[in-house]
Amino acid sequence: MARKSLKAGALTAPLPPVLVTVCAGERKNIITIGWTGILSTHPARTYISVRPERYSYKLLRESGEFVINLATADMAKSVDYCGIYTGAKVNKFKECGFTPIESREVGAPSIAECPLSLECRVIEVIPMGTHDVFIADIVGVSCDEVMLDGAGRLCFDRANLLAYAHGEYFELGKKVGKFGFSTDKTKSNKTKITDKKNADTAAKAALKPANSRNVKFADRDKPLKTGTKNPKTDDGHRPFYLDAPRGRNNKKPTSKKGGRSANGGKRK
Ligand SMILES: Cc1cc2nc3c(=O)[nH]c(=O)nc-3n(C[C@H](O)[C@H](O)[C@H](O)COP(=O)(O)O)c2cc1C
Repeated sequence: MARKSLKAGALTAPLPPVLVTVCAGERKNIITIGWTGILSTHPARTYISVRPERYSYKLLRESGEFVINLATADMAKSVDYCGIYTGAKVNKFKECGFTPIESREVGAPSIAECPLSLECRVIEVIPMGTHDVFIADIVGVSCDEVMLDGAGRLCFDRANLLAYAHGEYFELGKKVGKFGFSTDKTKSNKTKITDKKNADTAAKAALKPANSRNVKFADRDKPLKTGTKNPKTDDGHRPFYLDAPRGRNNKKPTSKKGGRSANGGKRK
């Protein structure tokens, strides 16, 4: 199959669009973050990349702490809301019906409705370009007890987690394997690595999938009230490839004819 070259950019998917909670003094807030991930297992270390113009940025700087709350597919609208509206003007906990609960290790609250929360303490902030990276130790974890099986193991397939890929939200699809299943030599896993078509069948045969998907954590279907849009971030994380195509010489189109510039005159 032919492949095409695209403009180089921050393209990786799927991303977890997480709800990051932060608190400085009396001001607590939620910000949706797509630029996050794990940096190290031991010490357990993570990062979030945040633009300095975000309201949450100040709170992060002041407190040096935050909580990463994983979001479920039925929270998609709230996740979007927390990534469009600013906590400087609206109470996102109230508007989204999220319950702040005390975290064990940090001052920032966790969100009761989220399946899993990682409590983080910032160790370093590194300017990276448009965003500053907050590198943090994961100092505490809590989860909804529905996430644990009888043996106390975390079952992520129970959470119906939300994924984000270049401007669109998805729910995770069916489980197609588990760590190490490529080494399974048992009869039930006869397919070859190259046998893509049967991969799912193989995974199903090799695993005993918990029939526990679609566990509801909260009814998140209610419509959200509209608040004040964040003027600086209306375009949120608008994927760059949705911008108008660049002209020859790879220059940004100008808005001389009264039109909007490639990204509506805003930074992404
Ligand atoms: C799916 C999604 C992912 C986002 N990821 C980030 C991110 O990684 N970093 C960032 O600075 N802003 C990100 N944003 C934008 C902020 O969430 C948004 O500007 C928000 O309104 C800021 O809230 P605040 O003003 O209350 O801090 C994202 C928005 C969406 C919808």
